[in-house]
Amino acid sequence: MNSPAILISVTAFLALLLLLLPAFSLPFDVGDDSGWVVPNDHNDSRYNDWASTNRFITGDTLRFRYRKKDSLMVVGTKKEYRDCNTSQPLYFANNGDTVYKLNAPGTYYFISGILGHCQDGERMIVKVMNPLPGESSQTGTDRDFSDSSKITAVSVTISVVVAVVAAFLY
Ligand SMILES: *[C@@H]1O[C@H](CO)[C@@H](O)[C@H](O)[C@H]1NC(C)=O
Ligand SMILES: *[C@@H]1O[C@H](CO)[C@@H](O)[C@H](O)[C@H]1NC(C)=O
Repeated sequence: MNSPAILISVTAFLALLLLLLPAFSLPFDVGDDSGWVVPNDHNDSRYNDWASTNRFITGDTLRFRYRKKDSLMVVGTKKEYRDCNTSQPLYFANNGDTVYKLNAPGTYYFISGILGHCQDGERMIVKVMNPLPGESSQTGTDRDFSDSSKITAVSVTISVVVAVVAAFLY
């Protein structure tokens, strides 16, 4: 094999790897580009609308991106969710970037731990199912199109760049 052939093979391999990556590692980005914040319109259904556009199964992960002074809590009951009761969370994080794994099927109640934020709509209910036969967790390519299309764009860009470099060198 001459050098350009090797280069093209390596590029093809890298592109394929990038295409397959989201199936194993990409968490769902909560709230997409806006992240975990108080919704502009203080609308309580904002995050629940986001959650209802996705299907979550055991083993999936959610990524929450938020301001350093904000926080994330998981509470155990619908009542605590409704009341924005922050006194006994099952989980708490405030590092600004939290990946939370949905370890078991059931209903998860996420709220902001900041007084007022939760009441203003920074809260979300997520229902997690057992995987269907043959379905594996975090198959982002099937269930979260936006992430896989981003990765595809990256891999296509890399392929083009390498092809241009190869054409230039040989
Ligand atoms: C909140 O948003 C939902 C749709 O996402 C809409 O149906 C509802 O009317 C909104 N509520 C308020 C108070 O704006
Ligand atoms: C908050 O939730 C805890 C745990 O469920 C409960 O013991 C407490 O009474 C609640 N506080 C309020 C103000 O509802």
